[in-house]
Amino acid sequence: MAVPVIDFSKLNGEERAKTMAQIANGCEEWGFFQLINHGIPEELLERVKKVAAEFYKLEREENFKNSKSVKLLSDLVEKKSSEKLEHADWEDVITLLDDNEWPEKTPGFRETMAKYRAELKKLAEKVMEVMDENLGLTKGYIKKALNGGDGDNAFFGTKVSHYPPCPHPGLVKGLRAHTDAGGVILLLQDDKVGGLQMLKDGQWIDVQPLPNAIVINTGDQIEVLSNGRYKSCWHRVLATPDGNRRSIASFYNPSFKATICPAPQLVEKEDQQVNQTYPKFVFGDYMSVYAEQKFLPKEPRFQAVRAM
Ligand SMILES: [Fe+2]
Repeated sequence: MAVPVIDFSKLNGEERAKTMAQIANGCEEWGFFQLINHGIPEELLERVKKVAAEFYKLEREENFKNSKSVKLLSDLVEKKSSEKLEHADWEDVITLLDDNEWPEKTPGFRETMAKYRAELKKLAEKVMEVMDENLGLTKGYIKKALNGGDGDNAFFGTKVSHYPPCPHPGLVKGLRAHTDAGGVILLLQDDKVGGLQMLKDGQWIDVQPLPNAIVINTGDQIEVLSNGRYKSCWHRVLATPDGNRRSIASFYNPSFKATICPAPQLVEKEDQQVNQTYPKFVFGDYMSVYAEQKFLPKEPRFQAVRAM
């Protein structure tokens, strides 16, 4: 069993219907799929990988050696206890937004990542239009919901992460299991160093590295908007003893002010008032809950935000 790999370019040809169906299946049965021929120039992807690697070496590697995770793990090993590190991740991460501080030392990093982010945002919007169509929603429905209207207010971020070699990979995760809070997530993962796994029918499955593919997964808000047709699914990153895994995840999330609820067309009439599985809430409130409960099941988050 492997995460579906879908040729996105076939949306524009004779195989459109088949490709739409593959994406519907990826959304409904998996919550994860990989896009190839997605239209992002390979040359740009190669530059992204290059600047990300240089950035880690130049601006992060030293910091990571002095990080809390490294200290916690070495303390644990020294104690010779049988415990594992349950509240830390073996990860180095920064987040790029349109309006925060970006690294300055690595040549080409800022220009390359700005260009990459612009491309990825367009791809996210295309993927959302496919979801609209597959769900029977009007074109642009999901985008508008995440933007809280017609403006460009979605929260679009890019996490540049590295998972350095770990001396005791059995004692800590690269990133603990969670579902993503937001909308659509687009990941450029390492060409060789694996470690990302998703939970499928109770089993952890590798999201196999496939050079220059973009891995798509759906977050909690797509689950709500689709009234549960598209489930956000659990995933995690294993730590590895050798290899430094690069992972660049961009997320197209709602604006903090956007109100999120199931699309009325997707809610059965008799469920419209009572029995609704998913609440209606403001995304900023959801994120307050998520900040405390990221590594816990999502259902209590929906409950907590319903009560707010
Ligand atoms: Fe995630």
